[in-house]
Amino acid sequence: MADTGERPKKTIEAEPLIIPDSFEGYPLNYFNLPLHYRNDLKSVLIPYGVIQDRIEALASRIFDDLRIGMPEQLVCMCVLKGGYRFFSDLILKIQNENRRRSDRSLPMSLEFIRTRSYVNDQSSNRLEIIGLSDLKTLKNKNLLIVEDIIDRGVTMATLKKEFEKFEPKTIRVASLITKRRKDKVCVFKPDYCGFEIPDHFIVGYALDYNEYFRDVEHICILKESGITKYKVLIS
Ligand code: HPA
Ligand code: MG
Repeated sequence: MADTGERPKKTIEAEPLIIPDSFEGYPLNYFNLPLHYRNDLKSVLIPYGVIQDRIEALASRIFDDLRIGMPEQLVCMCVLKGGYRFFSDLILKIQNENRRRSDRSLPMSLEFIRTRSYVNDQSSNRLEIIGLSDLKTLKNKNLLIVEDIIDRGVTMATLKKEFEKFEPKTIRVASLITKRRKDKVCVFKPDYCGFEIPDHFIVGYALDYNEYFRDVEHICILKESGITKYKVLIS
């Protein structure tokens, strides 16, 4: 075929890669998992390598979208604790874009906030937010909020409202995961998303269950027995 000289256009999807309900994850014995959680996990839903590839794609898309008309720093807001690995890998991959590209760049500054709402595998209706007090510098800045998972969407909807009070110029949200809830209740759609998953409670890659399982590389589905073993009593 004659070479027309036309380059194929590289398009990267900002919408999530959808994991169907029929996929229940990969068997554990194909992966190197820590011994201390071996009996508590059901399967590997998203292997570490796949997470990394998808984050690299999102970083490239974010770089291309946000460097336009943005000579000033993009404020990247890490939502701790669950978002720390996604945040760290996403920033690293945007930095790689900055190093590779000689035609354009995206300067960033990094901020951190901590939220807490989950007890056991249920969202409590109390959202604690720590670190909002020193964010006056957000005024007129472009903000990218980086979150691990959007489930009901209530945390992110509340957080966004809190950030709006500081009058940033723009707010965008990147979430590694959104959950396709059985009750279909989700009140927030992120601008950038890695994966949409079926309605399972997942752990690993910094996502926890009562502070356990953050120290697993892959995103895994928790077993019913794991849910029981690490349950805390709510007073
Ligand atoms: N796992 C961990 N944390 C979460 C989840 C989940 O499935 N949903 C909301 N927060
Ligand atoms: Mg989170």
